[in-house]
Amino acid sequence: MPNKKPNAGTVIFAAESSCDETAAAVLRCSGESIEVLSDVVCSQIEMHRQFGGVVPELASRSHAEVIDKVADEAVRRAGIDISDIDMVAATYGPGLNGALLAALSFAKGLAFSLSVPFIGVNHIRAHIAANYIGTALKPPFLALTASGGHSSIMLMSGYDSCTVIGGTLDDAAGEAFDKVARVMGLGYPGGPAIEKAAANGEENINFYRHPLKNHGYDFSYSGLKTAVINYINTARQKSGLTQKQTADIAASFQKAALDMLLRNVSAALKEYRLDTLALAGGVAANTALRERLKTLCEKENIKLFVPPLRLCGDNAVMIGAAAWLKYLEKGAAAFSPLSLNSSPSLKACD
Ligand code: KG4
Ligand code: ZN
Repeated sequence: MPNKKPNAGTVIFAAESSCDETAAAVLRCSGESIEVLSDVVCSQIEMHRQFGGVVPELASRSHAEVIDKVADEAVRRAGIDISDIDMVAATYGPGLNGALLAALSFAKGLAFSLSVPFIGVNHIRAHIAANYIGTALKPPFLALTASGGHSSIMLMSGYDSCTVIGGTLDDAAGEAFDKVARVMGLGYPGGPAIEKAAANGEENINFYRHPLKNHGYDFSYSGLKTAVINYINTARQKSGLTQKQTADIAASFQKAALDMLLRNVSAALKEYRLDTLALAGGVAANTALRERLKTLCEKENIKLFVPPLRLCGDNAVMIGAAAWLKYLEKGAAAFSPLSLNSSPSLKACD
């Protein structure tokens, strides 16, 4: 059971490898206090960049090669002994199957060898959990998650309990950034590249997408993505893309993509009458999104929580925090059997 050392807090080792970052972290948790003792992320971005996106087979091989070194480094930087670990956590989904297995198998093996509880973590809820670290966030609240695999609005009724009120119908927000950037030749990952190009552009192209009928707060980015790619191809056929055109397309696409997030979240906040919103996922690093949500929340008197930039992308700190919050809410029922398998298509609130 956790808390081997009275008053010392529960030491959690967490691991993550669902996509293109191998990560491990050590946290010390007690009640609502979550202290980060170490945070190690080994990114594969340079390796995938030459292919314009994540190559799943390369990702899983690379995770398997480095997970033990990343874990060792997290324990070393935390200044703990491996026997100090009270609980082990890892992402079990959603994500790339082979990739997920690296951290999950490692973490289950560690929990087994230390005879401590293991908690399997939902990656999407972990992105949201990053908002609890060092803040006074408390449920209930609405969470807007925008990452490479998901765009969703969730009603968080507890630390780990939620309902999806708007989901991902096709491409996710981050995926649309990545695909548009690839066609524009801006490189991978597309989000930061589009944001950089957009800084010198004007939002002078109307890529407005009408809301989908009968889909509530669901998100669909494939129509916007196709419209932008068609625009790029037509412009290329006419005269080739100038730097100015590239910047304007990036700025106009970014505006349209963020409009869709803002439109759904502001309507959901009104309907659910909640006074707190938390932003999560890789796209949460986007400065324009952060600023526009800040303006919206100030106007509507809503408390806004946004993770620090370091915790917007994939990391293991959020996995440890999510595991602890799950344990706070559910006690021993939060523990997972060591037979827990990866779940590549796990839904946000499963
Ligand atoms: O959460 P994350 O690291 O991985 C997943 O769980 O999917 O999100 C990665 C996504 C990528 O699609 C990336 O292009 C996007 O987040 N992203 C951004 C920015 N930084 C990362 N999108 C827009 N603006 C950014 N600054
Ligand atoms: Zn993620």
